[in-house]
Amino acid sequence: MYGYFEIQSRIGITKHMGGLTATRRLLERCHIDDTKCVLVVGSGSGVSAIKIAQLTQSRVVGIDLSDAMIKCAKEQLASDIEFIVGDAEDIQFPDNTFDAVLSESVTAFTDREKSLPEYSRVLKRGGYLGLNEVTWLVSPTAEIIKYALTVTEGLNPTDQDGWVASMQRAGFTELSVEAGPLKKFEQFIGELRMNGPQIPKVFSSFFSAYLSDREYRKSIHHLARASLKMPRGFLQAFGCGLYVGKKE
Ligand SMILES: C[S@@+](CC[C@H](N)C(=O)[O-])C[C@H]1O[C@@H](n2cnc3c(N)ncnc32)[C@H](O)[C@@H]1O
Repeated sequence: MYGYFEIQSRIGITKHMGGLTATRRLLERCHIDDTKCVLVVGSGSGVSAIKIAQLTQSRVVGIDLSDAMIKCAKEQLASDIEFIVGDAEDIQFPDNTFDAVLSESVTAFTDREKSLPEYSRVLKRGGYLGLNEVTWLVSPTAEIIKYALTVTEGLNPTDQDGWVASMQRAGFTELSVEAGPLKKFEQFIGELRMNGPQIPKVFSSFFSAYLSDREYRKSIHHLARASLKMPRGFLQAFGCGLYVGKKE
């Protein structure tokens, strides 16, 4: 059976809350320009890392835990971006390497107490961390936590105070926070602007994988059945959080 991220990497799509609109907001707050070297942690399909490079003209390196995601990102043919397999909790780069570290819908899948100190370690002094992360807006029930952990392959977010506290423990200062419910229309437009051009290819890859690969078909059916068991209130329990902090 393919996992949640394998299903996505196979068809070349990953996403984060707020799409391109949220990424643009994060970039503004991280003061990134063409002199900067940016690490994108959990670069997924590679599309958002490519947008970041285009919008800032900065040098971008993307890392992702999954070989399949890195293969998928390399297929986007952005020769100026380096995509490498790497773990947010144990980043392979030396201390003080990057001017900015960005991570969108990734850190909530990691152990924050390991990944956030790693982001700080590889940042240069004065560099910014920008997170766009799933944020609990209400205290989630045990059923909601279990559903997030199992159906979406280890999604384990926290609330706004939890994100802020974890960033502070990792040594980040001058924190700026914008968290709230997901606005459906904004999400739709942001998503379309980020992944719109990929959609025809994603659909054709999906149908080809679905029709030709029995295991893929089984995995889709499994995911669809699991989604039907979504606990009441799940979609209202979380929202989008943009968190920016500086390494002193
Ligand atoms: C929801 S996707 C988001 C991808 C991308 N940031 C985007 O916005 O499209 C989450 C990604 O995080 C990656 N990931 C999960 N845990 C990770 C870790 N410990 N280190 C690096 N990447 C990780 C997954 O393989 C997946 O590609």
